Amino acid sequence: MCGIVGYVGTERSLRVLLGGLKRLEYRGYDSAGVAVIDARSGRLNVAKRAGKLGVLEDELRRHPIGDGATGIGHTRWATHGGPTDRNAHPHLGDDGRLAVIHNGIIENFAALREELDAEGFTFTSETDTEVAAVLLGREYRVAGDLAEAFRRTVARLDGAFTLLAVHQDQPGVVVGARRNSPLVIGLGDGENFLGSDVAAFVEHTRRAVAIGQDQIVVITPTSVRVTDFSGRGVEVEPFEVAWDAAAAEKGGWSSFMAKEIAEEPDAVANTLRGRVSEGRAVIPELTDLDDLLRGIDRITIIACGTAAYAGHVGSYAIEKWARVPVEVELSHEFRYRDPVITPSTLVVSISQSGETMDTLMAVKFARAAGARTLSICNTQGATIPRESDGAVYTHAGPEVAVASTKAFVAQITALYLFGLHLARLRGTLSAREQAANLDELAAIPGKLERVLESSDSIAQLAHWMSDTRAVLFLGRHVGFPIALEGALKLKELAYIHAEGFAAGELKHGPIALIEPGQPVFVVVPSPRGSDEMHKKVVSNIQEIRARGARVLAIAEEGDVSVLPFADEVVRIPLAAPLFEPLLAVIPLQIFAMELATAKGLDVDQPRNLAKSVTVE
Ligand code: M6R
Repeated sequence: MCGIVGYVGTERSLRVLLGGLKRLEYRGYDSAGVAVIDARSGRLNVAKRAGKLGVLEDELRRHPIGDGATGIGHTRWATHGGPTDRNAHPHLGDDGRLAVIHNGIIENFAALREELDAEGFTFTSETDTEVAAVLLGREYRVAGDLAEAFRRTVARLDGAFTLLAVHQDQPGVVVGARRNSPLVIGLGDGENFLGSDVAAFVEHTRRAVAIGQDQIVVITPTSVRVTDFSGRGVEVEPFEVAWDAAAAEKGGWSSFMAKEIAEEPDAVANTLRGRVSEGRAVIPELTDLDDLLRGIDRITIIACGTAAYAGHVGSYAIEKWARVPVEVELSHEFRYRDPVITPSTLVVSISQSGETMDTLMAVKFARAAGARTLSICNTQGATIPRESDGAVYTHAGPEVAVASTKAFVAQITALYLFGLHLARLRGTLSAREQAANLDELAAIPGKLERVLESSDSIAQLAHWMSDTRAVLFLGRHVGFPIALEGALKLKELAYIHAEGFAAGELKHGPIALIEPGQPVFVVVPSPRGSDEMHKKVVSNIQEIRARGARVLAIAEEGDVSVLPFADEVVRIPLAAPLFEPLLAVIPLQIFAMELATAKGLDVDQPRNLAKSVTVE
């Protein structure tokens, strides 16, 4: 939530800042703004506008501002105060000489504002951020140095924040601080960068440093200094970003989402790479943790949204293969219900961004309660893997569209690899079973390519159904979380009421929703798995059909049992039952994207949402 970029160097900073904001816009798009120190006049120039980045860019074309080599930029997801010009960042100190941008929530802002009100300071916005800007201005007058004033300011703040600031009296300096929100440094040659994530500067440099919790950074064109909040120096460890700027571009695709769906075969293949050895799953990042993993007796998976549904799918495989009880819980529920945690509990968090605040807080809670923690994450340098005992990265590449697609299949792949790795350690699968499951996984990228070949017919179906007001989704076993995910995709992209149900639950209530013409997607399990389960789902289809439902079945090739009852059948290639979710989810992702497109909606930036939810 909120994207932040800072630049100091030799170039005109506006180009760098606007380029960085474009790549960070997935984090929020309620307003955008920049502050630069004008190289000619030495003054701080600010431009900010409610709306997407394009509105600010138009404004800057109509009314250009003087540029310089030091600046900060912000794209906002509103928390305190609506999405207006006044509430847009940057916010200025009381004398207009310094500017601050912020991601997060300053929890004690009301008390601080009261303190500053009493001293006669005035405010122009409803934001918590402006309080930090005014406080920084007051401290600057005392300290006479931006870095020192900034240190004193952040020490007064509670809550979650990434803050960046510039002061017109100190061109060539950008300061930043983070607590519970992300901040990454980009190391350039004669220039340096700050960003909410590496996408902010990957066009200029792939050398990066992730800033730790409660740390402050001061960058100049030729130096980077990181300290803790009390001013003590901190050693940093640069890393190389694994992808380049082109990977985060739309290329010739109509949307990032379309591009990312097309990248799903690669997301699975890249997540598998280097983790299979002689027919066995061996995750190199976990070898140091093998003793710990042998000692666990329970796994709790925590995540939110799509990542939680990936966890739900993964739980079936891990429990079956490694014979460890696995429960799945939404991060925000887990933390507040006093769960039973022991030193032999493994808490596995799943997060594409690695910054979801609910999940981060749940990981910290689990660690404090004595659990061992493992992060499954797609983003290098992110906070959640840094806060965990171990990490397994998904290699899906940057996911920009707000709706998660390729990260989902990569998360399931990583969970399956983890399940097989654990089964090997615990000796719960024979060598033949290990190898057979890995063969199934290895075949998934090719099968995904085949599913993608049927995109056009799903697109056509979605366009025919563009005036649909509600869609239901049914699934059983691993098909159940796929039904939930199909419904989530449709809600978030097409703003259509959609619900996913366990097919077995139908007669316990949801069947009352069925009326003539009601579209229902049914994820049909393979008849080659449990014949009994397959028959039950086919019976469910008959039950809803008898009540007038329009049945859209997702069934494997050759399953003719659904033909007499389904209005449409979307075919997926044959796969062992546990692996079907990786294939069955694709038509549902495409359906939601195409239906939203048919309604003229922005599939990459749906209303009210942000890619990375960094506030609780
Ligand atoms: O970055 P994370 O994987 O932690 O994000 C979790 C959810 O916010 C995310 O999956 C969300 O549900 C997506 N918008 C769904 O498409």
